[in-house]
This record gives sequence, structure tokens and C-alpha cells, in this order.
Amino acid sequence: MNDGSSSALLLFGATGDLARRMLLPSLYALHEDELIRPGLRIVGTARSEHSDEEFREMAKAALDEFLPADRKDDAKLGTFLKRLSYQALDASTIEGFDDLAKKVGDTSGGLSIFLSTAPFLFEPTIKGLSQSGLAHPGVRIGLEKPLGEDLESSRVINDAVGSAFSEDRIFRIDHYLGKETVQNLMVLRFANMMFEPLWNAHGIDHVQITISETVGLEGRKGFYDDTGALRDMVQNHMLQLVALTAMEPPADYDATSIRDEKVKVLRALRPVGADEMVRGQYAKGAVGGTAVKGYVEDLGAPSETETFVALKAHVDNWRWQGVPFYLRTGKRMAERRSEIVVQFKEVPHNIFAQRQGKLRANRLVIRLQPEEYVRLQVMAKEPSLDREGILLREVPLDLSLTQAFAKARRRIAYERLLLDLIEGEQTLFVRRDEVEAQWRWVDAIRKTWRDDDVEVKSYPAGSWGPNAGIALVARDGRSWND
Ligand code: BG6
Repeated sequence: MNDGSSSALLLFGATGDLARRMLLPSLYALHEDELIRPGLRIVGTARSEHSDEEFREMAKAALDEFLPADRKDDAKLGTFLKRLSYQALDASTIEGFDDLAKKVGDTSGGLSIFLSTAPFLFEPTIKGLSQSGLAHPGVRIGLEKPLGEDLESSRVINDAVGSAFSEDRIFRIDHYLGKETVQNLMVLRFANMMFEPLWNAHGIDHVQITISETVGLEGRKGFYDDTGALRDMVQNHMLQLVALTAMEPPADYDATSIRDEKVKVLRALRPVGADEMVRGQYAKGAVGGTAVKGYVEDLGAPSETETFVALKAHVDNWRWQGVPFYLRTGKRMAERRSEIVVQFKEVPHNIFAQRQGKLRANRLVIRLQPEEYVRLQVMAKEPSLDREGILLREVPLDLSLTQAFAKARRRIAYERLLLDLIEGEQTLFVRRDEVEAQWRWVDAIRKTWRDDDVEVKSYPAGSWGPNAGIALVARDGRSWND
């Protein structure tokens, strides 16, 4: 627990899905492990009226449903619930915020706010917080996406937040940065000698990043249909993975050094050509053996929204010249999987060629979820007397993080991010210039979609996306790591 730790946490959207599934279970875990100070009060707020007691009941029900069994400790649950209180808020009135400030009480020991709200409520909310004294220099604010729907609207939100909070008090959340394996990517690259000398256009042929999901719309009809896969996943999570994979070594592990390097990558992204992008939408099919409906049927209305996107991206700098970054993400795909694949180049000369020895270039697979591992495919010789040629085979050098750290507790991303917010540690949060560089690139893709009428291609649920997504890579003589 560090000294800058807040003494109160104000949770917007406290009765919503994110709070029930992620935030409350994360806060409970931090409480159980005594990682938050005993006096930290947690005030929930949302539109609906509830008493403190009713909110505690709701929180208890959420914890019953979403906490893993080994996390349930009745005594600790009781003390956790005592931290909670609730205030309903009508964000359109200043009186609403005065009542909220009253409920939050003394914030001289520091306050952290977790704000997730509809885009149109950002400005009034910031104004309300500011006018009711909840934005003083001892207050920091965590912002959950969506932060706008394009560069322009994100600027409006960032300006509004920036008028009340300095950048060092703004914590923009990308929950992928809270994932253990995502941070491990930096450790792999910068705590080991063997990768970095090859981590460039001389050593690497291309990079692939996949975030595939098996879920469909999941009751988020309105939001998802207005957003689509490009803005829901690529604009934030995937681009952060690109930045961490492609960035130069920062001088230190701190918020400024790391974010300075990430933003250079994001600014170096080349605009994507119309022939380098694929949009898809799932049609009916089967996922894991169960028949599922198509997107339009799930939505109950005709729609051109993409649930899949594949892109061929380029980072235009010296290190990455000529190395494509193939990105793809989608709903209702064959498997749930997040991974980064680094395909190394072939050796310059195959000394085994005359003895029928066939080589495959090394491939490094960094699996972020559901399993956590780093796997390097290397060539090895099959045991034999080699009378008919030398038999070479690809074998994995496997580092299973799940096994290597079997005893370590796996924490969900929000545990770390909430703790970092409460303690004021900004390294794993996204800076304004990063978000804007992300939007600039994504806006240009959307403009090309419109200008060039890039068609939304159908793919059966449970597949790896439309054929065009496979062709995007295949026409360069490469293949996805499926
Ligand atoms: C969210 C998206 O940001 O990330 C969701 O809005 C998506 O559509 C989710 O399902 C994926 O997160 P994770 O951690 O399950 O990979």
C-alpha cells in the first residue's frame, strides 16, 4: 500500500454489469488480501434509488455469483460489505452531485473515482463533480471505455475531463493492460537478452495478433451495433498489443517512459489500404457443438455492423520496415483465444537441403488467454540413422506460465487496475496522446470503408471468419496460426 493511497472510492455504474461481474469481485479480492487500507470507503452510485442496505444486498448477490469458490470467506465478506454505501444520482442536476458529495464525505485523505457512463453524460458528470467539490487536486479519476466514437468526440470528452483533472490524475482504462500476460510481454522482451537483437525487420517476417471470442452479442445490442468490432476491440486492446510488441525499449519501467515509447508506435501506423482490410458479420452456425443464431437474428434488425475485422497493418519506422502486422478479432469464432505470434525469418542458408532436410522458420507464440504460455517453435532432428536424408521436425520450446507459477494467484485485470487507481500508479493506463493516435488511425479505416464501400462479408458462427480474412494473409504466402 503506498502513501498516495485514496481513502475513498466512488464507483459510477455501481449496479451495472461491469460492477457486478468485475469491479465488486475485484475490490472484494483486494479487501480479502488486505491490499486496500482498512478505512477505504466505497460509495456506489447509479441512477436507480437504493438504500445502503439494498446496495449491500445487491453486492452480496453479485459476489455470490461471480466470486470463485476459494475466494468466499464469510467473515471477510461481512467486513467488505461494511465498506459499501450508495447514493442515487441524477447526473443532469447539480443538486444530485451535492447529495453525492455529501454521501462521499471527507475527501481530504484522497478520493479515487471510477467513471463509466454513457458518452453523452461525460460532460455533465465532470461538471457536476467539479462544482460539488469532487475534483480537487486530491481526486483522481479512472475512465472506462467507450471514450467517444471517433477522434472528434474523444477530444470533447478528454477536454471536458481535462478541464477539471490534470493528466496525471486521469487514468484511462484498457483492461488488456491489466492482464498478467500482457505485462509479461514487456518482461519477455526487455528482461531477456535473446529476443531483442532479432526483434526487428532483419529477424522477423511478420507478426499476427488474434483476439477471437466465441460469445456473440451478449445482451449489449444497442451498444455493440453502434460500435462494431473495429471500435470495440481494435481501437483499444489490439492497438495496445501492437504498441507493446513494436515499441523501442523504454529507459525505465515507469508511466512516462513506457507511454512515450508506445505513442511513437501508434503515431507510426501507416493508413490501411482498402485491399488490406476485411469486415465480417457472423451468420448462423455452431459454436462448440451448439447451434447459434446469426448476428441479424440476435439483434432482431437488419444491420451492416462488423463483428469481425482483419487488417494488415504496418509500423512505418526503421525497425519494422516491410514487416506486416496482421490483426484479426471477432465474435462467434471457432475458439476463444488471444495471442501474439511472432514469425521469424528463415535461416539465410539451409545446410541440410542436400540431405532432404526441410526447415521451417521459428515462430514465437505468446498466448495471453485462455491459457498463458510462451512457445517457441524450433527445428530439431528426428532420431534416426538418416540413411534416407536428415529428418527435421518442428518442436515446441514450451514455457507454460500457468505451470511455472502454479501456486501464484491469478488475478483478474481489474484487481490490478483498481489498486493502481487507488494508489495513483499510472503505468498501465492510457495517456491522451495514445488514445488520440489510436482514433486517428481507426477513423481513417472507417473513412475508407465508407469511401470504397468495403463490404461486410458473412461468416458462419464457429469459424475463423470470412474467407477473405484467410486470403488477406494467404496471398502474401503466409498463414494464420490456427
Ligand atoms: C471488451 C469488449 O472491451 O473486451 C467486449 O467491449 C469483449 O466486446 C471484451 O468481449 C473482451 O475482453 P476479454 O478480457 O474477455 O478478452
